[in-house]
Amino acid sequence: MGERDSSVAAVIVLAAGSGTRMKSCTSKLLHPLCGKPLLSWALGAAEGVAPQNLVVVIGHLREQVEAHLNEIAPHVLTAVQETQDGTGHAVRCAMEVLEGITGDIVVTYGDVPMLTADTLRRLVNTHRQRSNAMTIMTSILDNPTGYGRILRAGDEITGVVEERDADDAQKAIKETNAGIYVFDADLLREGLAHLSPDNDQHQLYLTDVVGYACSHGHRVGAYLEKDHWQTEGINDRTQLAAMSKEVNHRIVHGWMLEGVTVIDPATTWIEAGVSIEPDVVLWPGTILAGATSIAAGAVIGPDTRLTDVEVGRGAHVVRSEATLAVIGDEANVGPYSYLRPGTTLGESGKIGAYVETKNAQIGPTAKVPHLTYCGDAVIGAGTNVGAGTIFANYDSKAKHVTTVGSNAFIGSHSVLVAPLTIGDDSFVAAGSALTGDVGEGELAVARGRQRNIPGWVQAFRQRARNKKSSPPQPTVNNPSDEQTPSAAPSSTTASPKE
Ligand code: UD1
Ligand code: CA
Repeated sequence: MGERDSSVAAVIVLAAGSGTRMKSCTSKLLHPLCGKPLLSWALGAAEGVAPQNLVVVIGHLREQVEAHLNEIAPHVLTAVQETQDGTGHAVRCAMEVLEGITGDIVVTYGDVPMLTADTLRRLVNTHRQRSNAMTIMTSILDNPTGYGRILRAGDEITGVVEERDADDAQKAIKETNAGIYVFDADLLREGLAHLSPDNDQHQLYLTDVVGYACSHGHRVGAYLEKDHWQTEGINDRTQLAAMSKEVNHRIVHGWMLEGVTVIDPATTWIEAGVSIEPDVVLWPGTILAGATSIAAGAVIGPDTRLTDVEVGRGAHVVRSEATLAVIGDEANVGPYSYLRPGTTLGESGKIGAYVETKNAQIGPTAKVPHLTYCGDAVIGAGTNVGAGTIFANYDSKAKHVTTVGSNAFIGSHSVLVAPLTIGDDSFVAAGSALTGDVGEGELAVARGRQRNIPGWVQAFRQRARNKKSSPPQPTVNNPSDEQTPSAAPSSTTASPKE
């Protein structure tokens, strides 16, 4: 069944409630579940029935919700419910935006994230096949506490009673109201007009439309959803955690069926927007977030988090953290690497242990293997950056770029003070602090020269011995301090190796 066949006149998503139990200054609907806010999940399902109008009823923390909607779904209409006077009142607010509309109207909740588009389509199709005036999604729960109960006379639905208004016999009913419905628009309008706050909470209950429809001879049907997760709402953070685990379990399971090896599904977290090719291996403690994509044969983890990262075929990323980075085919990252936004590592390149990169393009087969900060850098193919090199990109006011050509060699413990250009096939002596450019094929040495003083140690020890055997002398101002080598420095020539 395609989206088009189940296209409806409108979907109304109720999202005005206060979400008190989250104890958060962020709207409950914006709390993420496996990488997507609760509301985004709800809208995903809603879009599945191709609504001609999609209305979100907002109220509590509505500025936050509106800002999010403008960003992710600008086509969505909003209806404001100033005070939360019940689900029936919320739908009334939505109907003001949907004046004169006819056809099928679906009502769902913003805080029921696991409901799928498929399930909503099945609900709509059941509704149409049976020519119902309204169809209510139900769920049979071992513990129905808190939910509205479905009242039946024989097979016929006669109404819904809320837990707090139910008697003991009604409380024993295990068929519950999921809070997801399809209504004929005219019936909905009529039913809403007849609501009264005659209940324990003095609110207008949408569920009373069921009783109204039954008593006025309209056909009311049920659609029983067996996957109870799909009808479950999020009220507090314990439920959010439990559902995150379930959604993650389903996502990880799905990838395994697609040919991904997951060594330990329980400690592997894969967000909804991630894509993974077959024959990828994920070691324990791997977290793949955002729009991360992993190409075939790559090996990730253990203990690695990648957010919006593209990993190439056959690459290895071990015990590392990376955000907004591109890791080339057959490249190696880690252990203990930190790739910040704007890092690209070319094919067969390497970023090794204790290396931090940011806004750095590291060419194919280039290596930054150990203990390096590499910020605002362009490094050519085949270049090797020695251990402990610092790309000093910040002059206390602005950031500057260092460009290193291809097949260059940066000696260990060098500081490259940007802006700087280092040519192809050049060599920087270990321990250099470079402030000027290096041309193609040149050796740059920017450090104090080494000098070796023959016999100095022996002389030093002899003086120490003499001092010990003679009684202490009053201190005199001795210009030739004992720490200063007395022997003249031997001539030290820059070794050709520098
Ligand atoms: C509601 C149903 C109950 C059902 C349960 C399923 C009613 C009267 N009861 O109960 O039968 O079993 O859902 O989860 O409908 N909302 C608004 N404005 C309001 C009130 C609520 O937008 O004035 C929104 C909330 O943000 C939430 C949804 O409607 O997303 C459900 O509201 P909630 O108060 O949680 O309803 P329940 O009491 O759980
Ligand atoms: Ca609820």
